Amino acid sequence: MWKQHARFERHSLWLVLGIIVVVSIGGLVEISPLFYLESTIEEVDGVRPYTPLEQAGRDIYVREGCYLCHSQMIRPLRDEVERYGHYSLAAESMYDHPFQWGSKRTGPDLARVGGKYSDSWHVDHLRDPRSVVPESNMPPYAFLAKRELDYRAIDKHLATLTRVGVPYTKAQLANARADLEQQVDPFAGETSDLKKRYGAKVQQRDFDGDPSRITELDALIAYLQVLGTMVDFRTYKAEDPENLR
Ligand code: HEC
Repeated sequence: MWKQHARFERHSLWLVLGIIVVVSIGGLVEISPLFYLESTIEEVDGVRPYTPLEQAGRDIYVREGCYLCHSQMIRPLRDEVERYGHYSLAAESMYDHPFQWGSKRTGPDLARVGGKYSDSWHVDHLRDPRSVVPESNMPPYAFLAKRELDYRAIDKHLATLTRVGVPYTKAQLANARADLEQQVDPFAGETSDLKKRYGAKVQQRDFDGDPSRITELDALIAYLQVLGTMVDFRTYKAEDPENLR
């Protein structure tokens, strides 16, 4: 066999052909199963598409480039898990288009920032980060509180997301604007249509402390407050076949 090997080593053309054959076998072994699997992401209970308000907040997050300083991806390493909580699951960003894993952490990871602070903390922090964290070097975003949220096209936006696989239902698409308005309405009650459509855990209140109008800050805080809260890690077990669908 070693003698045969000498042939490949002496003639570059044989070597190239040999490499192509060997590499394509490896490639086929890795790639072909993907054609038969419906999804490579384990679905996990609790993960749902964003509500229209959260999605609008997410767009502001992307627009303002928050991802340039913040990651949303907790790695399964001890120091990260102790600081930020359970490591991120693939399913938790399955409806993110584009995903916000990020590659830089000038500030902390935000994958589980939901519920960590009150809304009013976020209002103060985004208006003037140094007012709550004196050593912070995060830029202020005070203008978000003054700008009314432009959500005229939110239904079309959600419809576009369905094209890349986000499973919004017809009712969710048809009521996108109403749902957005309802989420910031502190008097909308427990049995609102929004909760019927997106689940009882949806956080429904006035987020920016100004109930008179819907601002970009409302949307951004609604988004921050849902991050990492969809999966209940008291009941989630990675190996549990119940979590696989
Ligand atoms: C120039 C880098 C930079 C940018 C851009 C930036 N941040 Fe930050 N952010 C930081 C730093 C540094 C901290 C830590 C100090 C602090 O809490 O202010 C932080 C902290 C935070 C925290 C608190 C996290 C925690 O767990 O304590 C939140 C929430 C946050 N940022 C949200 C945002 C949002 C939303 C945006 C975009 C609108 C944004 N940041 C843009 C640097 C940045």
